[in-house]
Amino acid sequence: MTAATPLVEIVSTGRYLPDRVVTNRDMESILETSDEWIFERTGIRERRLAPPGMTAAHMGAGAARIAMERAGVAPEDVDILIVSTATPDRWLPATACDIQALIGARKAVAFDISAACSGFIYALTLAEGHLSTGRGEIALVIATEKMSSIVDWEDRATCVLFGDGAGAAIVRKSSGERGILGTHHQSDGNLAELLYRPAGGAAIPMDEEVLRDRTHLVRMSGREVFKHAVRAMAGASKQALALSGWELEDVDLMFPHQANIRIIKGTARYVGLPMEKVFVNVDRYGNMSSATIPVAMDEAIEEGRLQPGMKLLLVAFGAGLTWGAMAVRW
Ligand code: UT7
Repeated sequence: MTAATPLVEIVSTGRYLPDRVVTNRDMESILETSDEWIFERTGIRERRLAPPGMTAAHMGAGAARIAMERAGVAPEDVDILIVSTATPDRWLPATACDIQALIGARKAVAFDISAACSGFIYALTLAEGHLSTGRGEIALVIATEKMSSIVDWEDRATCVLFGDGAGAAIVRKSSGERGILGTHHQSDGNLAELLYRPAGGAAIPMDEEVLRDRTHLVRMSGREVFKHAVRAMAGASKQALALSGWELEDVDLMFPHQANIRIIKGTARYVGLPMEKVFVNVDRYGNMSSATIPVAMDEAIEEGRLQPGMKLLLVAFGAGLTWGAMAVRW
């Protein structure tokens, strides 16, 4: 939770999306599915998939370079480099350290956080804490996800939902009214097994049985997750609004996690916001886990839809379960 005076602000964003577009029609050729089913249930038309040699670190570095250039920040100026990812390149070290090396952020302290789809706003809160307690001047927050590497391509109920991509933001101490205001984060580990990878970690290390049963890949109870998502995102949005001292009518634009258009519409309805005030791009990218919000913000800036002075509501939900919302004055 934060007070209603901004301590830090997002000064720039960047995004990196792999070139390869995979449409629902393309999916029809590898799975028993249809464009109609996928679009009706999720609002997704297509997603981007990274080629084999392209990793979360490569995509994250691509997004970071753009965000740094737009902010006029050199890699060696970055003090804190936080990466949100559910698809680290390796179990050790953190993907943040790989990105640090790729971009040359020599003096930065670099580490990963694991909060699944909620990771970008969780990471913004960590950056806020570091900067506002004097541990540096410039934070680079990156959300990068190669979801195609952890979904089960034999499970049509999950693999059609996800995509690959990365977003990044440069965060500095606020110099005025701009910045992060009310923030609410929450999680519930009792619901962990609604969306998880059962094996392949330290509890059940990778072996032939795990590989054969494909239990190292994402398993999701879609309907259950759906119900929790709408309730949790709507509740968090209201909390963030209350903490920021804003009325619902003050909100100019909401950036919800892009998992499913039905979840987005349900959340907007429960919060009380019309869809004209909700940014949607799930049709073009599917669910890129924690990368969805920074990619959406970057597109909104480019389209001229995100204008100075606007009041924004960022809201996310994901595995953990984790969720949260953040009021941001742009
Ligand atoms: O970032 C947060 C992470 N996750 C989410 O936000 C996902 C939350 N959940 C959802 O978005 C939805 O639950 C899904 C899109 C995953 C599924 O939609 P649903 O309306 O809950 O469908 P369902 O799982 O109840 O499946 C309905 C039917 C089943 O057939 P039967 O048993 O009714 O005969 C499935 O086998 O649809 C079938 N089905 C498919 N059919 C064609 C499941 N996947 C597919 C598919 N193509 N790809």
